Amino acid sequence: MPSIAAPTSRFLRACRRQAVDATPIWLMRQAGRYLPEYRKIREKATLIQMCENPALAAEVTIQPLRRFDLDAAILFADILLLPRAMGLHLEFVKGEGPRLTPPMRTAKAVARLREDDPRQTLGYVMDAIRLIRRELKPGKALIGFAGAPFTVASYMVEGGPSDHYLVTKAMMHGEPQLWKALMTKLARATSAYLVAQVEAGAQAIQLFDSWVGELSASDYERFVKPHSKQVLDAVSKTGVPVISFGTGNSGFLGRFASAGGDVVGADWRIPLDEAWKLIGRDRAIQGNLDPILLASGPTKAMLAAAKAVLERAGGRNGHIFNLGHGVLPMTPPERVKALVDFVHDASRR
Ligand code: CP3
Repeated sequence: MPSIAAPTSRFLRACRRQAVDATPIWLMRQAGRYLPEYRKIREKATLIQMCENPALAAEVTIQPLRRFDLDAAILFADILLLPRAMGLHLEFVKGEGPRLTPPMRTAKAVARLREDDPRQTLGYVMDAIRLIRRELKPGKALIGFAGAPFTVASYMVEGGPSDHYLVTKAMMHGEPQLWKALMTKLARATSAYLVAQVEAGAQAIQLFDSWVGELSASDYERFVKPHSKQVLDAVSKTGVPVISFGTGNSGFLGRFASAGGDVVGADWRIPLDEAWKLIGRDRAIQGNLDPILLASGPTKAMLAAAKAVLERAGGRNGHIFNLGHGVLPMTPPERVKALVDFVHDASRR
């Protein structure tokens, strides 16, 4: 008979601020181009083809856990699959990054966005989740994710990556009703997508607001927070822990945390203990080693910086070790192994 009482994961315990035997660690973008076994699969398939093929998506999700003693896996997918399922055309252009067409700039375009059942339009994601859950070892948790409404909206409005978010900010301030219509639709679709991921077997959810730090605190409060809150609340109702992640947002981290989430991310720009004070001691925190230190410089210096992060966490319940943002493609895999082992050894209770 299969064991019903599988050992609870360290990662899930930390999300709940329960005691752990050692600090859990996983890394944003832990599946990706820095791994030769990822590049080998990527040679034969585009990113979208990999996402749409549950067996390939499951394989690359698990790859980093074969090499490293990571405490959680993150579903291999992309935040831009949702706008694609809503009817936009998605392409990754070499050297330029993602391109979404047509750009969402009119009420007519927003009205045309589809909100079909994500269990159908993104069924391949749900299939990948079910496959991964079957393959993951006990104690290793699976994290599902989506982009937060602001970050996804910025790609939809600009049509791709942006330096200054000119069109996005012009819409917020110049056509607030149009902005609100887009964000309302996105928040609803994102909530449904994430709830479907939980139903398929995701054990925690991370909401990526990668570019939220481009906003002023007051624009965040007015134009973004209510929509992020709606998504975070909807996912919280499922009962799985929710991680709310942003970068460049130390200037309004308290406001960002007030949108919700059991766990709030901190990027590397702010010392972890200062971030935790702003987030509130009644919440868990995730972070916050500088990804550049993992990619380059002396390994000794990288480990010293990791030790400093652990010291700032002070052994308190509710710390999940991560980078302040994703693993960079030039990161040597040996250094990831050194970091993961160090975090477990140095934090052993
Ligand atoms: O390991 C993981 O973290 C899981 C997979 C994952 C991907 N994208 C796969 C991917 C996750 C969590 C994402 C989220 C994502 N996608 C974000 C938020 C996270 C963050 O880093 O802040 C954003 C902003 C995107 C949008 C996106 N996808 C961009 C801007 C790009 C191009 C970047 C580039 O370097 O070319 C992608 C492509 C992408 N998504 C890659 C991966 C592994 C690189 C793909 C490749 O060419 O192999």
